[in-house]
Amino acid sequence: MTSLPTGYAPSSYWMSSAPGASYPALEPGWEGTAPDVEVAVVGGGIAGICTAWELARAGRRVALVEADRLAAGATGHTTAKLSALQGLAYQDIRAARGEEAARRYARSQTDAIDRVREVTAELGIDCDLEEAPAATYAEGEEALAKVRAEAGAAAEAGLDAAFTTATDLPFPVAGAVEVAGQAQFHPRKYLLALVADLIARGGLVAVVRLGGRQRAVHRDEKGRLRSLSARCTHLGCLVRFNDAERTWECPCHGSRFAVDGSVLQGPAVRPLKRIEDHEHPARGTEHGGEATE
Ligand code: FES
Repeated sequence: MTSLPTGYAPSSYWMSSAPGASYPALEPGWEGTAPDVEVAVVGGGIAGICTAWELARAGRRVALVEADRLAAGATGHTTAKLSALQGLAYQDIRAARGEEAARRYARSQTDAIDRVREVTAELGIDCDLEEAPAATYAEGEEALAKVRAEAGAAAEAGLDAAFTTATDLPFPVAGAVEVAGQAQFHPRKYLLALVADLIARGGLVAVVRLGGRQRAVHRDEKGRLRSLSARCTHLGCLVRFNDAERTWECPCHGSRFAVDGSVLQGPAVRPLKRIEDHEHPARGTEHGGEATE
């Protein structure tokens, strides 16, 4: 195994290869100066940007509001695959909701991929979109039965799915479910092009800052205040405080952090960043925690 150099800080290729533009901040008192819009979309990740763009394309006056940078949280640190195959989702959906629900889910995912292809062609977006198969694989025998079952469930749901032991993956696997005709793209090139087109259609993009970085603040029984960055060190989602466990938890992929920021459970491997702030006002419950701006 190769050791990473000490102090190595991973960064996102998507972020560094498509830095993007900056957008005006809504300052306090903006209410009186805001342009007339019909719809405000809050959150500038892939869901928010696509929603805002579709609404603008349909003729709505749209404002897209983001608290930080556009397409920079989970979207800026994504796998960048466009795939209707997601882990072992189809056997889970079928077990919980039945075959028709699994079929509808597969159709919705396939339609979404097709929509990205259509929009890319419509706007002539250069976002490295290319077709590729998607795979969920098992490295050992234990998980093989589940992967085999997923191939059956995904095929029954209408996907072009099959079990295989021969994949193009650059490491050995015991077996995989593979779905043909999926895709990968550069998510930020795609989304920033949508934002540019949204603005060209008269849409407004604004950044709301309420006073600095997002923080995870905790006060313990002795009154000691700990102020940490609320950005999960895995892919940048905002952590929330779990009152029962007294931990910071990330809703995206389940990382958990102690109140001093140290990692209790991955996929994150680095602690929450400390913010030196002895003057931060005590908010929330006496011994509780709070994510705030
Ligand atoms: Fe993945 Fe937090 S962003 S666990």
